[in-house]
Amino acid sequence: MVNLKIDGKDVQIEKGATILAAAEKAGVQIPTLCFLKKISPTGSCRVCGVEVAGADQPMTACNTPAVEGMAITTQSPRIARIRRQVVQMLLVNHPLDCPVCDAGGECDLQDVCYDLDINRQPYVAEDLSHPVINTWPLIQQVPSRCILCEKCVKVCHEVVGASALELRERGDKAFIDTVDGKPLDCEFCGNCVAVCPTGTLLSKPFLFKARPWELTRKPSVCTQCGSQCQIDYNVKEGRVYRVTSEDGVTVNDGNLCIGASFGYGYINSDQRLRRPLVREADRFREAGWDEALGAVADRIRKVRESSGPQSLAGLGSPRLTNEENYLFQKLFRAAIGSNNIDSEARYGALRVQKALGASLGLQGASNPIDRIGRAAAVMVFGSDVTAEAPAIDWQIEKACRKNDGKLLVANMRRVKLARYANTFLQYRPGTEVALANALSRLLLDLGLADEAFLGRSVSNLAELKAALAKVDLEAAVRETGIDRALLEEGARYLGEASSVALVFGGDVAKGEGAEAKVAALSTLAMVSGALHGDLGGIFPVDEKGNMQGLLDMGVFPESLPGHQPYAVARAKFEKAWGVKLPEGGRDLHGILEGIEKGEVKFLYLAATNPLVTFPDSGRWRRALEKVEFLVVQDILPSEVTRLAHVVLPGVSPAEKTGSVTSLDHRVSCLGQAISPVGEAREDWQILADLYDRLSPRGVTLDTEKILAEMKSLLPLYTEVCFSGEGRCRPCQKAPYRPADKSLTFVPAEAGAAAQGMQLLTGKILFHFGTTTTFAEGTLEVAPEGYVVMNPEDAKALGLGAGGGVRVKSSQGSAQGKVKISAEVPQGLLFAPYHFSDVNIQQVLPAGTNRVQVEVAKI
Ligand code: FES
Repeated sequence: MVNLKIDGKDVQIEKGATILAAAEKAGVQIPTLCFLKKISPTGSCRVCGVEVAGADQPMTACNTPAVEGMAITTQSPRIARIRRQVVQMLLVNHPLDCPVCDAGGECDLQDVCYDLDINRQPYVAEDLSHPVINTWPLIQQVPSRCILCEKCVKVCHEVVGASALELRERGDKAFIDTVDGKPLDCEFCGNCVAVCPTGTLLSKPFLFKARPWELTRKPSVCTQCGSQCQIDYNVKEGRVYRVTSEDGVTVNDGNLCIGASFGYGYINSDQRLRRPLVREADRFREAGWDEALGAVADRIRKVRESSGPQSLAGLGSPRLTNEENYLFQKLFRAAIGSNNIDSEARYGALRVQKALGASLGLQGASNPIDRIGRAAAVMVFGSDVTAEAPAIDWQIEKACRKNDGKLLVANMRRVKLARYANTFLQYRPGTEVALANALSRLLLDLGLADEAFLGRSVSNLAELKAALAKVDLEAAVRETGIDRALLEEGARYLGEASSVALVFGGDVAKGEGAEAKVAALSTLAMVSGALHGDLGGIFPVDEKGNMQGLLDMGVFPESLPGHQPYAVARAKFEKAWGVKLPEGGRDLHGILEGIEKGEVKFLYLAATNPLVTFPDSGRWRRALEKVEFLVVQDILPSEVTRLAHVVLPGVSPAEKTGSVTSLDHRVSCLGQAISPVGEAREDWQILADLYDRLSPRGVTLDTEKILAEMKSLLPLYTEVCFSGEGRCRPCQKAPYRPADKSLTFVPAEAGAAAQGMQLLTGKILFHFGTTTTFAEGTLEVAPEGYVVMNPEDAKALGLGAGGGVRVKSSQGSAQGKVKISAEVPQGLLFAPYHFSDVNIQQVLPAGTNRVQVEVAKI
C-alpha cells in the first residue's frame, strides 16, 4: 500500500494504482475524457492533469501511478487554466454542431466544457477532417467530432476482441477507421458507440429518434442468451428506443452484444401479435381473451373427457420467465392432469444437465462467470461461444488479453476465438470424446495433474487412471486429425496453469452422444484442475436466455421443480397443490410419436417454434399439421402460429415482470419497461387465467405470490433474494467442491470420425433464436439464411459466393445461398438455424446438430 495526500486528504491505496484511482477513493473528482476503467489508459486528452508537489509540470492522473508521500493538488487556478486550454485545443476542429448531434445531452465533451466554464472557441484551424462515414452498417462515424480518445479502438480490441477499428492518418487528419479501410464488418456489439464521449460514433437505428433526456431508463435483464447481462431499456411514450448498460455497476460491466444493442427491434415490430386469434375453417379471426381462453379450456376438457389427460401435451420455453415456466408445468400437471411436458432442452441442455449431474453432481456451471476472466487458462470446447453467449467471450478476452492467460480452443470450425488461441485443436467431426480422453491421459502422463486434489475428489481414481492409461494416443491423433505435439502443447497449457476454466457449448450439447462427451469433459475438468479452487470452473453454455430457469422449474416429465425426481417428490407437490398428480409422462420424442399415432390430440406450444429451431423440423411440421388442436402462445407470427387453432399473444421481456436464471445461477428480475402491445398479455397471466378456468383451486394472479410458492417448494430458490427490478443479487451458494466423485470413463468409439460431407447447424452471433429475425438492426447485417462452405469444396462444385446450393440428407433437404470461407474445413458445411427461408433444421435427424449430406449446386 502507498500513502499520499490529495487536496490535503490522506489516502491509502494499493501499490501500482493511479492518482485517479486514489482521488476516487478520497472522494475527489477529476475530469476525464479518454479514461475508461475497463481498458488500458491512453493518456491522450490531458484533461485529468493535476499538480504534484515537487514536479514542474502537471501530470495526468489517469496513467500516473500514485507513489508514497505524493502530495496532489487537483484544483487550482493554474490547473483550471491548463484544463481549459487543453479542451479548447480539442475544440479547434470540433464542429460545434451540437443542436444536430445525436449525442447532445449525453456528450462528455459538452459536460467537461460546461464544468470548466468554456464558453468560446478561441483557436481555429483549417478543417482537415475526414468526411462523415455513412457506409458502415448500423453505425455512423462523424470524424470531425472525434477527440481521438481511442476508447472505441480499445474497447473493440481489449474487451470484445473484435479488433475492427484503428486510428488512421496523423495529426489533424487522424480519424478512426476500420482496420482494412473497408466498411465496418465486425461483431456489431455497439460497445464503441456506448463508450464514445462525443457524437462521433452513433447508432443509426437510434439516430434522431429521441433526445436522451426524453428517455426513461428502466433497469432490466437481457434474455437473449444465458449470460443475462444487465441492461436499461430506454423508453419514450411506451416504446423501447434503445438498450444501454452501465459501466462498473452491472455484471457485464456495461458491455453489450448485438442482441441487446441492435436486436431489440422485434419488440416494436409491426408484426407483433396483438389480439387473440381463433381459427374458423381456414381463416383466423380476432377474438377477445374470454372467448379465446374459453375455447382452449373447453377443448382441454373435451379431449380429457373423451381420450384421457394423457392425450394432452405442452412444450415450454427458455423464452419464458421462471414464474411462467413454473405455472406452465403446474397447469399441465395439476390442472390438466398430464405430465406430457417438455421443451427444446431435450435436444441439448437437459442432456448436459443430466450428464453433469451424474458425473459431478452439478446442475449447471460450477462457478460464477467472472471466474472465467480470472482463470490462468481457458479451454473452449465445441462452442462458438462468441455467438452462443457473447458475455462469456468477453470473460475469455479478459482472462487472455488482460490477464495474460492461455487460451485453448477445440472446435471443428475456425471460430473467432481460434484466431487468438495459444493452441487451436481443430478436430474432425465426431471425435470429441477421443480428444478429451487424450488430453486427460496426457495430463497424467506428463505429471501435470494435481494428485492430492484428485486423491480427495475422485473416489475411483485408481480405476479411472487405469482406464485413461489405456487411451490409445496414436489412435486419438488419427481420429481427431490433430498432431501429437499439438495435443501435448494443449495439455501442458492446462496442466501448468494455476487455474483452468473449461467452457463447452452447442457442439457438445446438441451433438450426437452428448452424454458421453460431457462425461469425458467432466474427467478432463477434474484432471486439469478446472474444479480445483475458486477460479475457473466448468461452464456448460446454452445459447437460450432462460434455459437454466426452464430446467430448474421442472418443465420435463422426469422432474418436478427444483430437479426433484418426479416419483420421489410427487407426494410433496400433491400435498402442496392439493391434487393427485398424474403418473408417467411423455417427453418430447414421446409427444411427437404420440401425435403421429393419434394418441396426443392436443398440443400447447408456449413461446417455442419446433418448425424452425428443432432438429427434424420436417417431421414436426407433419405432426403439427395432424394434431387435432394446436394452441400457440407467442409474440410474433410464424409457421406454427399459422397452423394453430388458437393463437394467444404473449409479450416480450420488455413488457413483463418475473425472474430469470442465468447459466451461472444468477437470478434476476425483469423490469417492466413498457405496457404490453395491443391486447397482448404477460405470459404468466395467460397461463394463470387458463389454470383458473381449469382448476377449482385457482392461482393467485401475482408474480410475487407465485415466486413465494416456488420458494416454498424449490430448495434451489429458497435463498433467492431480489434487490429490485432489473437487478440481481446472486444467491450466496457455497463454492463448489467436488468430493468423492466416481467418474465414469467413456472410451472413444473406434472410427467415430464422420465420413463424407457433413452439415453442422448452430447459432450465429447476429441472431438469437428466431425473434431477432424480426429486428431491423440484426437483419441489416444478417438478413437471410446461408450455408458456409470451404473454398476448395466450393471450387469443386463450381460455386461462387452467393451461388445457390442444396443440401440433402436422409431426413430432408434445404437450399440457400453459399458463403465461402476457410472458417470451415473441407468436408464440413455450416448453416445458421435461425432463418425460416432456409429452414436448415429439417435436414437434421432428431438429437443431433450434424448430419452427412449430399450437396449440389442449384
Ligand atoms: Fe487522463 Fe485523458 S483522462 S489523459
